[in-house]
Amino acid sequence: MTGAADLISVRVDVNGTIYERRVEARMLLSDFLRHELGLTGTHVGCEHGVCGVCTVLLEGDAVRSCLLFAAQVDGHRLRTVEGLALPERVDVPHPGRVDVPRPEAVDNLHPLQEAFRAHHGLQCGFCTPGILMTLIPFLEEHPDATEREIREALSGNLCRCTGYQNIIAAALAYLEDPAATGLREQ
Ligand code: FES
Ligand code: FES
Repeated sequence: MTGAADLISVRVDVNGTIYERRVEARMLLSDFLRHELGLTGTHVGCEHGVCGVCTVLLEGDAVRSCLLFAAQVDGHRLRTVEGLALPERVDVPHPGRVDVPRPEAVDNLHPLQEAFRAHHGLQCGFCTPGILMTLIPFLEEHPDATEREIREALSGNLCRCTGYQNIIAAALAYLEDPAATGLREQ
């Protein structure tokens, strides 16, 4: 049984918000994000580094949150799928959009998320957060990536629904869209 004295203090910046918690040393980062911070956009599948659904950005690099302890990220900056929406896009008009009430986060989608929506890059969506968080740094570093290179970059992300074709199409469309390029961050 773990007593209060055995807990470890963790202070992290997640999507620009500072969180401080005291957690067990064995708590996985994926569980920390989901259960301590309520950021359930980071999914959990295999819990041993194979499926990629738990991928988040640690200081800008894609990492598997099921392979890290929360204590290891103390003092670091994380970004999860919840941090992809761009607040500055709130007032950007969407030509042709049916004007129905939507959650703000949907209106603020990151251009890569918009590309996934436009190209049907997801079905059940379970793999999607991990795929987005894998692609974001890769596409930033490889703006001229080929289809083959994108496929290789996603080789550690399992999707049981799409057959990957539309995911690749979305990634390529994102790279080709100058407007999206101008809106990218990180
Ligand atoms: S849950 Fe982390 S890689 Fe599968
Ligand atoms: S969209 Fe269902 S697992 Fe990828």
